[in-house]
Amino acid sequence: MIFFHLNILLNSTKSPFIIKGEKKKYAWCACGGSSNQPFCDGTHMKIGKKSPVIFENEKEGNIALCGCRQTGNPPFCDGTHTKL
Ligand code: FES
Repeated sequence: MIFFHLNILLNSTKSPFIIKGEKKKYAWCACGGSSNQPFCDGTHMKIGKKSPVIFENEKEGNIALCGCRQTGNPPFCDGTHTKL
C-alpha cells in the first residue's frame, strides 16, 4: 500500500503534460503509477488501481493532458491544478 502512495507522489505533477497530439488512440494513465507519464504502461494491473482512460485524438496539434489526476474532464486538463 505504501508503494502505491509513493507512486502517486512521484508520478503526479501540478501541471499538465503538453503533448504534440496525432490522430490516433491514446491511453492516459489514471492511476498515477506509470513510468511513462502521461501514458499508461500497464502498472495499474500490478497495483490494482484505476484503469487508463482510452481516447481517440481527432486533431493534430498540442493537447494538454492532466498531470495532477484531479481534473473534472479526464484525460484533459481543466485548470483544477491551479487550485491545488
Ligand atoms: S494538470 Fe491541470 S487539471 Fe490536472
